[in-house]
Amino acid sequence: MNKKLAIAHILQSCSKEPKHEIGTFFAPSNIALCKYWGKRDTELNLPNTASLSISLGDLGARTTLSLNSKPVDVVFVNGKEFDKNTAFVKNLLNFLDYFRSYPEMYFIVKTEVNIPIGAGLASSACGFAALVGALDALFGWDLSTSQLSLLARMGSGSASRSFWHGFVEWEMGIREDGMDSVGVPLNIRWPELRIGLLILNAQQKILSSREAMQRTVLTSPFYSVWPNTQDVHLLRLKNAIETRNFLELGETSEINALAMHALMLTACPPILYSNPATLEAMHKIWQCRQQGLSLFFTQDAGPNLKLLFLHPEQDAIVKFFPDLNIIAPFMSRG
Ligand code: PMV
Repeated sequence: MNKKLAIAHILQSCSKEPKHEIGTFFAPSNIALCKYWGKRDTELNLPNTASLSISLGDLGARTTLSLNSKPVDVVFVNGKEFDKNTAFVKNLLNFLDYFRSYPEMYFIVKTEVNIPIGAGLASSACGFAALVGALDALFGWDLSTSQLSLLARMGSGSASRSFWHGFVEWEMGIREDGMDSVGVPLNIRWPELRIGLLILNAQQKILSSREAMQRTVLTSPFYSVWPNTQDVHLLRLKNAIETRNFLELGETSEINALAMHALMLTACPPILYSNPATLEAMHKIWQCRQQGLSLFFTQDAGPNLKLLFLHPEQDAIVKFFPDLNIIAPFMSRG
């Protein structure tokens, strides 16, 4: 099935005309503890494995959408009209094409994003999720959160996990049309859990995760071991979350991220998102561990690290990493 048909299937009984003047939606960003790396269907963004994430609370994207009476799409990011040639905007506008009821339907997109864009901090995950949510609000579709997750997945895979707070599993699914490849919240709270964003370079990455992922699948001689590794890591992570076993959560998340980056190094040509500051920070984290702190990291398609720790150790960790942007994903949320 192609993307157009899959989207049409989900929207089959939905209005083609906006019900409201504007539609607004907030989606939190999410960081995978068990990564999505590789697609079995590049058109529908169907993954080769399941993945598991934690949402970043108030960090994310709030998107407001309205129709433009002028024959042009306009995209504002954080109050400024954004260059349509940037990958972020190009991808959003290409995706919007699937939702125009007629070719002359143009949009004004206003997005407030409070994380750096395109730096491996899941700006595309929250960006696509917020866009789909804003479409739903503008047209008054009233879709379920799972349906929104299915739609957003077709914009950016990791966006399927950005509709909930806390832990979210993106189930791999087995159907060819992808209707079972959807985000599912774990509904387990872990109030002491903290995520520290260690921004080492907020510049846009040169190679998109989309391209890097595909190159790894097609050229790494070791990709065949990835799905089994994922199965083991996912089980371990779910068990760690259920039993609030932080050491197991931290260790498994870190190993999972390092395994993904190791795979990328074996792609042809090789892919390396880390820079010297990334490696220095990793060594510092391992030194902290040797000194008895329970501190772990995960890394996505960029040089920045996300540190994982528990609240009681926060003061000690901040001494080593004073610039850490700390998120409490379960604070003041139901
Ligand atoms: O959804 P994409 O195409 O931006 O890919 C996300 C890839 C990673 O962030 C590296 C892993 C993940 O599961 O989020």
